[in-house]
Amino acid sequence: MRSDLAIAPAAGRDLDAIHRIERDSFSVPWRRLFFENELAAERRFNLVAKRSGVIVGYLFAMWIFDEMHVNKIAVAECERRQGIADELMAECFAFARANEIRTISLEVRKSNLGAQAFYRHLDFESSYIRPRYYPDGEAAVVMTRVV
Ligand SMILES: CC(C)(COP(=O)(O)OP(=O)(O)OC[C@H]1O[C@@H](n2cnc3c(N)ncnc32)[C@H](O)[C@@H]1OP(=O)(O)O)[C@@H](O)C(=O)NCCC(=O)NCCS
Repeated sequence: MRSDLAIAPAAGRDLDAIHRIERDSFSVPWRRLFFENELAAERRFNLVAKRSGVIVGYLFAMWIFDEMHVNKIAVAECERRQGIADELMAECFAFARANEIRTISLEVRKSNLGAQAFYRHLDFESSYIRPRYYPDGEAAVVMTRVV
């Protein structure tokens, strides 16, 4: 990991920065309250990536028994392609291995080819298409990886 990059559990004080990146990254962003609720929920694995103390990315995941689901991952646009999302996912895989989680899944917009390439590079495979998954009617590609 780059020496100026740190991964830490997400906390309430991080929500403004998280939500700024969220609004810049998604056409239909989660509301801030949604992130707040995730921070308070059980069986969650929520992280931020900080570069020199500034939040540059986040990952919000949930798990139950031996399954984990990545709800959100994003990196600030000007910080992309520097391995930050890789570092967030590496923490996720380490948590999964330590907690006997067997599979990690996620949904990604069918049109989001960049994110699909990112997941494929991490050995996620497309499992199936979930039609009309997003509020605007777009389909999701469900992708899965065995831990
Ligand atoms: C997807 C996302 C989180 C990746 O974050 P990132 O920090 O740029 O990713 P990394 O730098 O760790 O990428 C690691 C590797 O994944 C692949 N990859 C990442 N983004 C890619 C893209 N847009 N196109 C093709 N391959 C990509 C590459 O192999 C890359 O290695 P390289 O840069 O040496 O070629 C980021 O693009 C993002 O925030 N997108 C907007 C939000 C989003 O779509 N999130 C996913 C919703 S399901």
